[in-house]
Amino acid sequence: MPLTHVLLPNPTALISPSSTSTADALPSPTQGPTSWFNTVLNMVSKDPIRLTYLSTLVSQKTSVPIASAQQILQTGNYVLRVKLGTPGQLMYMVMDTSSDSAWAPCSGCTGCSDSVFSPVNSTSYQSLDCTTPRCIQVRGQSCSSTVGPCLFNQTYGGDSSISASLIQDSLTLGHDVVLGYVFGCINAISGKSIPPQGLVGLGRGPMSLFSQTGPLYKGIFSYCLPSFKSYYFSGSLRLGPLAQPKSIRTTPLLQNPHRPSLYYVNLTGISVAKKLVPAPPELLAFNPTTGAGTVIDSGTVISRFVQPVYEALRDAFRSKLNGTISSLGAFDTCFDTRYEEPPVVTLHFEGLDMVLPAENTLIHSSAQPLACLAMAPAPSNVNSVLNVIANLQQQNHRILFDLVNSRVGIARELCN
Ligand SMILES: *[C@@H]1O[C@H](CO)[C@@H](O)[C@H](O)[C@H]1NC(C)=O
Ligand SMILES: *[C@@H]1O[C@H](CO)[C@@H](O)[C@H](O)[C@H]1NC(C)=O
Ligand SMILES: *[C@@H]1O[C@H](CO)[C@@H](O)[C@H](O)[C@H]1NC(C)=O
Ligand SMILES: *[C@@H]1O[C@H](CO)[C@@H](O)[C@H](O)[C@H]1NC(C)=O
Repeated sequence: MPLTHVLLPNPTALISPSSTSTADALPSPTQGPTSWFNTVLNMVSKDPIRLTYLSTLVSQKTSVPIASAQQILQTGNYVLRVKLGTPGQLMYMVMDTSSDSAWAPCSGCTGCSDSVFSPVNSTSYQSLDCTTPRCIQVRGQSCSSTVGPCLFNQTYGGDSSISASLIQDSLTLGHDVVLGYVFGCINAISGKSIPPQGLVGLGRGPMSLFSQTGPLYKGIFSYCLPSFKSYYFSGSLRLGPLAQPKSIRTTPLLQNPHRPSLYYVNLTGISVAKKLVPAPPELLAFNPTTGAGTVIDSGTVISRFVQPVYEALRDAFRSKLNGTISSLGAFDTCFDTRYEEPPVVTLHFEGLDMVLPAENTLIHSSAQPLACLAMAPAPSNVNSVLNVIANLQQQNHRILFDLVNSRVGIARELCN
């Protein structure tokens, strides 16, 4: 039986113990099956910018800015169905495990789409000024004095930016109402990567949902992303320990001071058809000095591996195909599905193996009997020694993040 819990903003104590709260809501693009392949191709074309962007999420001192001028399509890949304000206004906000911020387009926003949050229609809305401690934590804030609204500018996705005012209002997540959730009310956007109805950051920084809800969810959450092709809000973000699987295989969650917001895991190897791909171990290794390693991300479309690792993986995959190999868009290993039996790819993490189902390995053309290996090399710039386990590879799995015990659980779960 679902209970409604009223949650006070951090750091205030809770009225009631946290319970399961689900925003039973992880959708996928809303276009029909015929355009899906093109949609993914388009989304994949923006991955390199995101990868570059992730690699810039370094702590202040060691930030290496990288510019990219690549034109990309907008949108995040999975959104949460949530409500903002009182009474709640329905919003489909992108779930981003690599972001600390939260923001939503507000009425009057320049450059935003139609679905905006209307603060004047919410009885619980409050604007925040420069004196609020939260304002100091906001990246890109520009308070020069202690008076006036807390305004900030932020870049996102490598090529876009928002201009926003810091506000607070209720955020409804499933049956939980988080009072005084602090987020940016977007006044203007530029670029094409801004999620049209905003973003909920599930990263590890001070503005993220978990920092704002304090001990509420006890540092534990998990999600299941339904198939890319699914039309339904059938996936789930589960918050707090009670909502989680009783037993699940786990691998250590690592924290990298170089990119403190990201969820690092220890990828120790990759197999194709049960045979370990010969990849230099140092290219997979976690390195807190350089920021190298492997992250799990809910905002990148297809997994990326540093070039030599990708090439070794791809060559092993190709060696199991006997027909003609072609390329299509970003994908360099495509084959005729009528004549081939593609090999199984397994990701080896310390303490657990993730055997990828065909759906999580391949992307199928809607126009011809063609499938492609849905992985790619990481962009070749010096700063992106980062392997990313992305959405397509995570479909129909429960991915559990336990920040208290520093572990990540992964298990097959159908949530289409
Ligand atoms: C507030 O709600 C009313 C009634 O639903 C609506 O007509 C109006 O457009 C809303 N205001 C804004 C700024 O969205
Ligand atoms: C945000 O950027 C705009 C346009 O560059 C600028 O006019 C504005 O002053 C900036 N605001 C803040 C808070 O930095
Ligand atoms: C590839 O091998 C499979 C069996 O391993 C066979 O059925 C298929 O005909 C072969 N395809 C080509 C193009 O040779
Ligand atoms: C990753 O796992 C390997 C194999 O278990 C282990 O030797 C290595 O120390 C681990 N790396 C980290 C950073 O925990």
